[in-house]
Amino acid sequence: MSTLPIYLYGQSILRKKARVVRGPDAELAQFADDMGETMRKANGIGLAANQVGDLRRVIVVDIGAMEESEGKPPLAMINPEILSGDGEWRMEEGCLSIPDLREEVSRHEAIRVRFKDVEFQEREIEASGLLARVIQHEVDHLDGVLFIDHLSAMKRKLLRGRLNKISRGKIEVAYPVVGKSHPGEGESR
Ligand code: CO
Repeated sequence: MSTLPIYLYGQSILRKKARVVRGPDAELAQFADDMGETMRKANGIGLAANQVGDLRRVIVVDIGAMEESEGKPPLAMINPEILSGDGEWRMEEGCLSIPDLREEVSRHEAIRVRFKDVEFQEREIEASGLLARVIQHEVDHLDGVLFIDHLSAMKRKLLRGRLNKISRGKIEVAYPVVGKSHPGEGESR
């Protein structure tokens, strides 16, 4: 397993729509493993392929961070599709591509999601609470949407200065990143 550098806010790939994965291969499983490792190392609970510079519809979520699933490996979801959503709740969210910025976002409380696992078996699960939130956040990434897009125009205006700093690379991050002054897989300090 290897750790991949995470693309920071301002990198255009975060605004691109990822493409449907047509079939499984050994590399896909490896990629999903690497994404899981990258997420863990960065202390995240979810990661989308766009964030590591890849436009396949792949996300990983850390169900080990949820109650009752402690210690379980990250779950990789290929071509995830949110079929339905119920309820609404607000909670503070962050994003590994937008370090040090947390804001309240409204999401469905419970969702039904269909996806393929790395062997390309179709699966359908119901998720609620934090897991449902993480899945919604990561599926957004695959469509080029960031959590800050859910904030009011006023709120975004207030955050503009901090967002500009991130896109200009004027930020310290504890994990390997790709950003303006962090080309490639360099250490960011
Ligand atoms: Co994110």
